[in-house]
Amino acid sequence: MKPVFPDTNAIAHAADLLRQGRLVAFPTETVYGLGADASNPDAVAGIFKAKGRPTDHPLIVHIADIDSLADWASTVPDAALKLADRFWPGPLAIILNKKPEVPLAVTGGQQTVGLRIPDHPVALALLKSFGGGIAAPSANRFCRISPTQAAHVSEELGDAVDMILDGGACQVGVESTIIDLSGNRPRLLRPGHITTQEIEAVLQAELILPAANAVAIPAGVRTPGMMDVHYAPTTPAMRCPVEQLQEMLTTLIGNGKKIGLLSYQLDIAQTSQVRVLRSPEQAGDYAQRLYAALRELDSLQLDLILVEQPPQTELWRAINDRLSKATVAA
Ligand code: TXA
Ligand code: MG
Repeated sequence: MKPVFPDTNAIAHAADLLRQGRLVAFPTETVYGLGADASNPDAVAGIFKAKGRPTDHPLIVHIADIDSLADWASTVPDAALKLADRFWPGPLAIILNKKPEVPLAVTGGQQTVGLRIPDHPVALALLKSFGGGIAAPSANRFCRISPTQAAHVSEELGDAVDMILDGGACQVGVESTIIDLSGNRPRLLRPGHITTQEIEAVLQAELILPAANAVAIPAGVRTPGMMDVHYAPTTPAMRCPVEQLQEMLTTLIGNGKKIGLLSYQLDIAQTSQVRVLRSPEQAGDYAQRLYAALRELDSLQLDLILVEQPPQTELWRAINDRLSKATVAA
């Protein structure tokens, strides 16, 4: 499917397709989403089919405004309103208890629903024209890297999608921060551009973090990052601290391997055996380019992708989270 320029006519056509239960890929500020009418279980089933994703894996419902929260959530806690007021439209998804009428197809059979207002003019125009909630996972095939450009969506989904709106390269580049507010205490399910500290400052409460709560998640509940392989390139990929990188490269080169190197600090010349992509220094820019860089290296038919480990600080939490899923540790 060839991406189309998102002018007024294209948006109106995309909204019509959604009404007919068909699939529209659209840009958000984080990654491209594969959208369907969230109130139509058959349409939602189409998302799972196109992605090859197990149907017990819940989807995020994208909404146009804060008032629409009440259409999906059985109760809207104060904490949700505080986060929504501060961060929406923006790269934050909030999990709330669902209204009875929200299809289980959207929530992967769970009694909670994920909601967010995306911060992208094309996504917002589509939501407005459609007039309802749009269920949209990242527009990649299951366990693959999320698309951050329209061309990536074409590569991933081909004609399994009915329309692709081209909104250029996504600004944030990694998926939204997910906060679960369905329980007694707020819980971080997926780190993203909006940091734990920013959320805690608004809620005036400490978040339960993923590592600390692994056993507290009820059996059968699916949350992000429970899969062993996720967001991964097809070329074997390894992350490596800068101190070990030179030695690792020397060994691999000696063994005749073709390497793709995503470097951060290490300044190394490109050779016929080593293709080098240099990462931006700032975390925001690094995140914005990360998936496109992995995709580019993945397309070169190399033996191994080596990623130099970036800093391990809070600002880099989302990046390190995604790298830990895309690569194995050296
Ligand atoms: O940035 C984003 O959130 C992008 C754009 C398109 O909005 N969407 C996205 O969707 O990343 P997806 O489906 O690839 O990831 C959504 C994650 C899944 O890992 C899912 O487990 C989690 O959100 N999720 C959704 N609803 C949930 C729920 N009710 N309870 C727990 N986790 C939920
Ligand atoms: Mg995804």
